[in-house]
Amino acid sequence: MPTASFIERRGQLETYFDHTAFDAWSRLTSNAPVGSIRATVRAGRDEMRSTLLHWLPDDLRGLRLLDAGCGTGMLAVEAARRGAHVVAIDVAPTLIALARERMPKDLGAGNVELHVGDMLSPGLGRFDYAVAMDSLIHYRPQDVVRALSRLAGRTARSVLFTFAPRSPALAAMHAVGRIFPRSDRAPGIVPVTEQGLRKLLSGEPELRHWQQRRTQRVARGFYTSQAMELASA
Ligand SMILES: C[S@@+](CC[C@H](N)C(=O)[O-])C[C@H]1O[C@@H](n2cnc3c(N)ncnc32)[C@H](O)[C@@H]1O
Repeated sequence: MPTASFIERRGQLETYFDHTAFDAWSRLTSNAPVGSIRATVRAGRDEMRSTLLHWLPDDLRGLRLLDAGCGTGMLAVEAARRGAHVVAIDVAPTLIALARERMPKDLGAGNVELHVGDMLSPGLGRFDYAVAMDSLIHYRPQDVVRALSRLAGRTARSVLFTFAPRSPALAAMHAVGRIFPRSDRAPGIVPVTEQGLRKLLSGEPELRHWQQRRTQRVARGFYTSQAMELASA
């Protein structure tokens, strides 16, 4: 069972991404023009997505990948184009509906199965890879580590995720999605230092056979996020 604080935050995120931020996310994840601030966020997100995809094998044919908190499905589509069978899940039904609408007809050898629900749902099955791009950044670090251990428990090779790195310079920006007007603001991002996160990961019993490998920070204007790879030992 996820912790009570995870469930509470998930409910807030569902409301936020399903209603409040739907139009902003729809635009941000399209080619439509955006203002200069959001353009930096779009560029940062593009760089992060390509970093995570670069950490996966070029050839994903025959492999199962979980896109945990897939939003409008951008990463899922790219992974499927490399041949993966992608299970893409998001707690926001409207984003999944948009992902479905935008899904290209031809994904070659790959495909994407879209679901509305919690990324930790046991019914999703087992995977070779799991990727959580910016979908755990609003949870308490303790809940993030618990969630990662649950994802790792059903993943054979690696779990890729991002966190919001904490540093004094970034504190102001992280104070709450300031790229959006006040009424549109997301439940606060919860920054964590890399060192603090590594310590929590090392202390998680169910991750004892998992290695903390690559990490890469992406900082572009109003977007800052850090990718990390957990690999099965
Ligand atoms: C910042 S968006 C990123 C979306 C996508 N990964 C991307 O990079 O475009 C975070 C997404 O995570 C989803 N999310 C948060 N917690 C979730 C959970 N427990 N299960 C499924 N989706 C979740 C939100 O609904 C939202 O769509």
